Amino acid sequence: MRLMSLAVAALGLSLFAALLLAPVPVRATADDQFDAAGTYKTKCIACHGPAADKRFDKALPDDQLVEIVMKGKKPEKPPNMPAYNEKGVTAEQAKSLVDYMKSIKQ
Ligand code: HEC
Repeated sequence: MRLMSLAVAALGLSLFAALLLAPVPVRATADDQFDAAGTYKTKCIACHGPAADKRFDKALPDDQLVEIVMKGKKPEKPPNMPAYNEKGVTAEQAKSLVDYMKSIKQ
């Protein structure tokens, strides 16, 4: 009985260690640690510009903007807005990105 629980504990510990050592995918990032500014700079700035001055209408309602970040958008001419939900971005993270874009847009 004792040995059994030791084995279970050892298994649990090694699983825990494996989780700690595994590379952290975007979706495992806790939302409170989500770096909207950093993400914007690496993933979004190329199409939306340093001050979210391109292809971003901040007059649209938040839920619509969040939905576009999650599901993407195909305007008449390329480039398309990619669907970031497929890339592991959560609705909360999409909301932080939208808030960030609003904060930098003049
Ligand atoms: C390959 C270019 C490209 C990249 C990269 C890109 N977007 Fe977009 N985004 C677009 C296009 C194109 C639209 C549609 C604009 C339109 O409707 O004319 C758009 C629309 C949006 C909208 C809705 C605003 C509107 O007025 O329609 C939001 C919000 C948005 N993007 C956020 C983001 C965020 C956040 C990222 C990074 C995680 C990102 N985008 C990365 C091209 C891009």
